[in-house]
Amino acid sequence: MSASKDRPVLLTGASGNLGRALVPALAASGWKLRLTDIAPFPDALPEGVVFTKADLNDGPTILRLAEVCQAILHFGGISTEHPFEVVLGPNLRGLYHIYEAARREKARVLFASSNHAIGFHERPAGNGELLDADCAFRPDSFYGLSKAYGELMGRLYWDKHGVENLNVRIGSSFPEPADARMLSTWLSYADLARMMDKFLSAPRIGHAVVWGASKNPATYWGKDHRDRIGWEPEDSAEDFRGKVGGKLSGDPVTERYQGGGYTAMDYTRDKPSPKDQFSLD
Ligand SMILES: NC(=O)c1ccc[n+]([C@@H]2O[C@H](COP(=O)([O-])OP(=O)(O)OC[C@H]3O[C@@H](n4cnc5c(N)ncnc54)[C@H](O)[C@@H]3O)[C@@H](O)[C@H]2O)c1
Repeated sequence: MSASKDRPVLLTGASGNLGRALVPALAASGWKLRLTDIAPFPDALPEGVVFTKADLNDGPTILRLAEVCQAILHFGGISTEHPFEVVLGPNLRGLYHIYEAARREKARVLFASSNHAIGFHERPAGNGELLDADCAFRPDSFYGLSKAYGELMGRLYWDKHGVENLNVRIGSSFPEPADARMLSTWLSYADLARMMDKFLSAPRIGHAVVWGASKNPATYWGKDHRDRIGWEPEDSAEDFRGKVGGKLSGDPVTERYQGGGYTAMDYTRDKPSPKDQFSLD
């Protein structure tokens, strides 16, 4: 079912970095917003926008918050690497609550997935071969694993219940790229906000996966389902090359794989030399 601006849109993780960037943009586009987060919303609420403090672990409250909503923009949860037990509640159980709510309301879901769901793919060799969105999951962390689970949850709820969902494998969404890797992975806040509008307005989505990155010439990523929502990024990380192009980690694992520093966290294999190839995939 495509959108009308009368039914509310629930935004989880509203008090986080991306949530706070999206609220004014979505309100300005005329979407009727309901906000939620476990942390208080730190900014002034746009007119008519309601905020409710809630834990994603609290299923009945999530169901109530989603009542009559046309869409859930799901940005809430643990957003960096943490021990498994910390990730488990918000990112696995919480996601189930989001999808059950969407199923009940016949709402569509946008899931803020992550490049860390596929972070152990090697970076492209510079020969033009990019990674397509139908690649295998290769999570680089418990956090990335929870994002792979989230995408598969979307797969299940589309196949079994017809809940439409867009899974955005966000690269690095910050005001500016902060290091050389982000010349490939950066997603500007403006491109992200434009994607939300397209998602909410698209007539049909099904189960779709999109790389969440701006129009970066140094990209790692190829084909995806962006045509389903008619989204094309407009910004480019290349404008920041002079500032961050020399910012490398010096770590062979970090620099080898797409997930960067997440791949090297708690890494207990022998570190590869730059020439090694792991053939036992
Ligand atoms: N910013 C990026 O570059 C990036 C990259 C990939 C994926 N993502 C994903 O996008 C989303 C937003 O990212 P962000 O950078 O704004 O992160 P963030 O940490 O600033 O925001 C996440 C929000 O989720 C809330 N939250 C945590 N546990 C919760 C719980 N139990 N119940 C309810 N709310 C809870 C937090 O309070 C926080 O406000 C996250 O899902 C993240 O994994 C972001």
